[in-house]
Amino acid sequence: MTSVTPEDFKGALGSWASGVTIVTTKLDGLVYGITVSSFSSLSMEPRLILVSLQDSNHLPHMIRKSKHFGVSILAAGQEGVSAYFSTSGRDPAPAFDGSFATENIRTGSPLIAGAVAQIDCELEEAVPGGDHTIAIGRVVGATFDATRLPLVYFRRAYRALNMDGQWQ
Ligand SMILES: Cc1cc2nc3c(=O)[nH]c(=O)nc-3n(C[C@H](O)[C@H](O)[C@H](O)COP(=O)(O)O)c2cc1C
Repeated sequence: MTSVTPEDFKGALGSWASGVTIVTTKLDGLVYGITVSSFSSLSMEPRLILVSLQDSNHLPHMIRKSKHFGVSILAAGQEGVSAYFSTSGRDPAPAFDGSFATENIRTGSPLIAGAVAQIDCELEEAVPGGDHTIAIGRVVGATFDATRLPLVYFRRAYRALNMDGQWQ
């Protein structure tokens, strides 16, 4: 069997250009969230999305209990928000201490203000996936701002699109 080195795995997977999302939940009055690029649309009927969350982190365990989560698709210029939510060692707290605002739609999961889109979900299913949990969300609220451009992540760096679709 051919073994795939961590470098080849990361290099190949890092070639997938993605947006950047913040996945959050609220449990027993405490909020928490992490930066996530493994987000995908899953189903139209019913309206489902999925995210893949590493099991060493608080978030999949909190979501299994709270039964809801929010996905905010970050806008160009929100790199600082992504950096905040990808910092290790943070714990659930009554409020986030970063310089950004949050909003609620329906479930109480905090959604990032100024994002390109905000997607509020009830947990449909939590499926084991290696050292991650695939959280499948049933979308119960969604907003978007068609005037904003997305933050893009490619080859371990943040990128931005301009209106002509060129790399900046
Ligand atoms: C651009 C970017 C994308 C990420 N995507 C994911 C992801 O899809 N799933 C995940 O579990 N972690 C992802 N992470 C890592 C988590 O954000 C990070 O491990 C977490 O916030 C660190 O918390 P901890 O070390 O305290 O567990 C990503 C980080 C960055 C910067």
